[in-house]
This record gives sequence, C-alpha cells and structure tokens, in this order.
Amino acid sequence: MLEAEDLQCLKAIALIGGCNGPVLISSQTLAGTLGISPQTASRRLIALEAGLLITRSLHPDGQYVTITRDGEEALHREYSDYCRVFERKVAQFQLNGTVVSGVGEGRYYVGLPHYREQFHKKLGFSPFPGTLNIRLNGPSVQVRKRLESVDWVPIEGFTADERTFGGARALPCSIQGYRCAIVVPGRTHYPDDVIEVIAAEGLRETLQLKDMDTVTVEVLDD
Ligand code: CDP
Repeated sequence: MLEAEDLQCLKAIALIGGCNGPVLISSQTLAGTLGISPQTASRRLIALEAGLLITRSLHPDGQYVTITRDGEEALHREYSDYCRVFERKVAQFQLNGTVVSGVGEGRYYVGLPHYREQFHKKLGFSPFPGTLNIRLNGPSVQVRKRLESVDWVPIEGFTADERTFGGARALPCSIQGYRCAIVVPGRTHYPDDVIEVIAAEGLRETLQLKDMDTVTVEVLDD
C-alpha cells in the first residue's frame, strides 16, 4: 500500500515530466516543492525506489529519476478516483443496455501484448482480459450513432507469428465510476446495438453483473 506522502512525491516528480523519461531532481528542490526537509525528501525517494515506483541514477550533476510503469499506474489509480468524484458533472453521453455473453473471443484479443501495451499507453490502464458485451436499448442505439462523431483513440493493427491483427478504436468511458473504454474492432463481429467494453477490473465480478442485468455507460466530455 502506497503512503499518501509517497504518492505526493510521485506526483511532484510526474509534474516535472518523470513519466516521460529521466528528470534531474535534487532532494533540496523536491523538499521545497513538498514543504518537507531535504532529509525527508531523500527518504521518500529511497522508499519510492525500493517500492519499484521510480528508478534513479546518480550523475555528477545530481540524480535522474524516472517513474516506472508501476509508479504511473499508482498515479492513474488516483486519477481514476478523482474521475469518479467528478464524473457526474462531465458525463456527456449515456448509453443504457443489458449485459450479454459473446463468443469468448474478447479475452484472446485483449490478452495480446501488442494490444495490451497500446491500451495501457493510450487509455491509462491494463485491461482485464475480455470484453463486457452490452446490448443497447433503442434510444441508446441512437446515442451510439452520435458517438461516431467524437474523437476515438486509434489502436494500431500489427503482425505477429505470421498473422495480421487488425486495428481498432477505443473510446474512454465509465461504468459506475469504473474507468472503461468502448472498443470497436476494425472488422466488427457485432451489429450496432452491441458494444464491447474493456476495463481494468473484471466488471462482472466487481459489479456483480450477470446476463440481462442493466448497465449505464457514461462517456465523459474531455
Ligand atoms: O465474448 P465473451 O463475453 O463470452 O467473453 P470475453 O470477451 O472473452 O470475456 C470473458 C468474460 O469476462 C466474459 O464473461 C465477460 O463478460 C467478462 N468481462 C468482465 O467481467 N469484465 C471485463 N472488463 C471484461 C470482460
């Protein structure tokens, strides 16, 4: 469990670019930013490194710090909590429908590393292996059509083991505050009234969902 103080420290490093590559940082400047002593700042860096949330390398001009993938995920979890806090104010589209089962292909595709890496990088979470299929009600099918005009996140296709995997597009959204994304494969297997949703969590288990249960998908306005 990450201490609140460590998270603050991680955030301070992220704000100066630590998620994108090594940033030069001294215990003094970090201490100044966080309003703590340089000794405490130094201890926090050591703790973050021990927790594999940052990596550090020492150079004559100071230490270079990079936030690791785990570190970035910790920050994303925090971000996702705040999205939950504020989402009611920014939901732009709502889609209502019922949970349905598919043919079990989702877990295979979502599990492919090339897709997973893109989901992580572009959507900010590593998806549970599978897609939750939701059959939209009549009015929501119309809302779904309007979603064609918003900006989707492109997911590139790739070739692996002499097989070609098509591209897809994803649209960030949430279900009961859980961060999700609607994913539409380049060659979709479903008619327009079924959407496929990925999320960090296994939504059936987390939200106690079974086939025919109703769910609301909220697409946030960014
Ligand atoms: O295609 P089908 O719905 O049969 O399965 P899948 O896409 O391979 O996903 C495996 C199972 O995980 C299904 O029961 C999904 O509904 C479920 N799932 C979930 O609970 N949460 C997610 N974020 C994604 C899938």
